[in-house]
Amino acid sequence: MNQRTSHLLIAGTLASALSLSLVAYAQDEATERDYQVPLPEAPEGEISFQPPHERDLPDNQYGEMVRKGRDLFINTQALRGEYVFNDQNCANCHLDAGRLANSAPMWASFGVYPAYRGKNDKVNTLAERIQGCFTYSMNGKPPEYGSEPLVAMQTYLHWMATGAPINESMPGRGYPKLEETEQGADRERGAEVYAQQCAVCHGDEGQGQKVGERQAFPPLWGDGAYNWGAGMHRVNTAANFIKANMPLGKPYSLSDQQAWDVAAFINSHERPQDPRRRTLESVDETDETFHNHHGFYGDEVDGRRLGDHADFGENPTPLDG
Ligand code: HEC
Ligand code: HEC
Repeated sequence: MNQRTSHLLIAGTLASALSLSLVAYAQDEATERDYQVPLPEAPEGEISFQPPHERDLPDNQYGEMVRKGRDLFINTQALRGEYVFNDQNCANCHLDAGRLANSAPMWASFGVYPAYRGKNDKVNTLAERIQGCFTYSMNGKPPEYGSEPLVAMQTYLHWMATGAPINESMPGRGYPKLEETEQGADRERGAEVYAQQCAVCHGDEGQGQKVGERQAFPPLWGDGAYNWGAGMHRVNTAANFIKANMPLGKPYSLSDQQAWDVAAFINSHERPQDPRRRTLESVDETDETFHNHHGFYGDEVDGRRLGDHADFGENPTPLDG
């Protein structure tokens, strides 16, 4: 932890202790101290790992649990109303059902947990890491330890990592890191990229597109999108993801500059409130405590302050509940 973070930690903790009643303070400390720290950069090297084929799944209870996990990973909307309160599926950001290299593939993540995460300043198990994506990316409520959805996902990840090394970061993990450009990230230039290359699928208003009841293209902002606490709301993380994965079917077709600009554009729109806001007094405090990174939370854009609202999307879950 660097000095700045540790000051923030102390400031944040003091502020919450002062401003919350004793009962409220007995909430989940881990979630309260959740900071945004990107994944470490994946090592260079050839991506040679191949996850196993589904046709090779054993015909037993383990194989059945893997299938359940895969189904939930692709159609996480099956958990809507219980653990998921936006329109996302895990596979929206972890492409090809979590198999695609450079799209934060699940086979590269299984063996690296438990791991220390700056985001909540403690050692996280894989289950906790998955729970984190439920809280933020899915704007949801994390499934409880030992509950079937969580066991199914862990089993799916375990199976995908068959033959992968333990405790070693593999090439292809996470999203490849883009260097910053001299011109920086500009949302106005990004708006043009978006209109030309993204809106056809994600919609003029970032609302995504449904075919019947099914979400064919995920929303990128608004109530159906990832919330203000999700890793994807950071401009650098989104730029990395976009460069390697978007437009769908045309990876690496955008220039680095276009990827930065369009990431700034989509992430400077409103989305569900950061759930950690429930534990703090104000947007300022949430901004200072948890948003010391490359993002738009708390910034003024087009005359409005982003994140200055009490809209948690459809998520009714208080953090301590
Ligand atoms: C809106 C995009 C998005 C969605 C949806 C999403 N994730 Fe993630 N996930 C990310 C990002 C971004 C990271 C990388 C974290 C970072 O850099 O902050 C990540 C990281 C992870 C990791 C750790 C990877 C590693 O190598 O350490 C796991 C495991 C994971 N997600 C599982 C899930 C599961 C399971 C779901 C569905 C319940 C899900 N994610 C939904 C964006 C998403
Ligand atoms: C041909 C349709 C298509 C185009 C064009 C396209 N996308 Fe996507 N995008 C998708 C689909 C589909 C997914 C979900 C991936 C999946 O489920 O396999 C996705 C996922 C994403 C995500 C993950 C975040 C989330 O909340 O789910 C982001 C960010 C994103 N796209 C940004 C962009 C940007 C920026 C552009 C333009 C440069 C773009 N996309 C162009 C179809 C498209």
